[in-house]
Amino acid sequence: MNLLLMGPPGAGKGTQGKRLAAKFSIPLVSTGDILRANVGEGTELGKKAKDFMEKGALVPDKLVLEMIESRLDEDDCADGFILDGFPRNTAQAEALEVTLYSLSKSVDLALGIEVPPDELVRRLCGRRVCTNKECGSGYHVDFDPPAVDGACDDCKSALYQRADDKEETIKSRLEVYEEQTKPLIEYYTERDLFKGINGLGTVDEINALVTAAIDDRCVKP
Ligand code: AP5
Repeated sequence: MNLLLMGPPGAGKGTQGKRLAAKFSIPLVSTGDILRANVGEGTELGKKAKDFMEKGALVPDKLVLEMIESRLDEDDCADGFILDGFPRNTAQAEALEVTLYSLSKSVDLALGIEVPPDELVRRLCGRRVCTNKECGSGYHVDFDPPAVDGACDDCKSALYQRADDKEETIKSRLEVYEEQTKPLIEYYTERDLFKGINGLGTVDEINALVTAAIDDRCVKP
């Protein structure tokens, strides 16, 4: 099963993606996570991506495409994958089609999690993430707080706020989504691959909707 998780910043792609990856035993491939890891490690890619990410802009397609092409060719993607945060514009969607064709694969379903802007800002401003790269658990100061303030429930490491989760940067990210990423709803609707999901509700409620859409489309009886 080859799945795309779409939706604006803060819609819950990562939250749902982690659950789906565990349920279906396929990898969650998040371009944002891969880029942040590169920034953290100070790689050449990270150095080139850092400024774009801090401004809330998209990292240039060339860099992201090279990164994703090699990732999708790795062995753990052989039986399927969940892409979170890619593609982000029409050029990336077209490049993905070409890459998957060369690997004798295709997209089975593009799920779009829909959440209104004021709720997105609330979710992003309150997001906290575990500093331990092996763990990476996510929390929200109001909706999903850790048991001990500032510490991860799973591994006890410190939590941090992402550099791009500041209100001004969030505004830029939402504008970039509207201008460059939202048109992909039409792109995948035209290919009969898009399914919109109402992203307002508890994480469990959204998970039930997402899972039902996948069962309906991808899981053979
Ligand atoms: P990326 O990391 O992909 O960020 P994003 O798309 O902005 O999405 P987020 O990770 O912010 O949100 P999410 O939808 O995963 O929400 P989450 O589940 O965490 O990209 C970051 C940057 O990298 C980009 O700006 C760009 O610069 C670059 N980049 C990445 N991919 C690129 C590409 N393809 N091309 C070019 N550049 C690229 O949830 C958010 C919060 O809400 C959490 O606190 C969570 O606990 C809470 N929450 C989740 N679900 C619920 C719920 N149902 N109710 C209440 N709270 C909830």
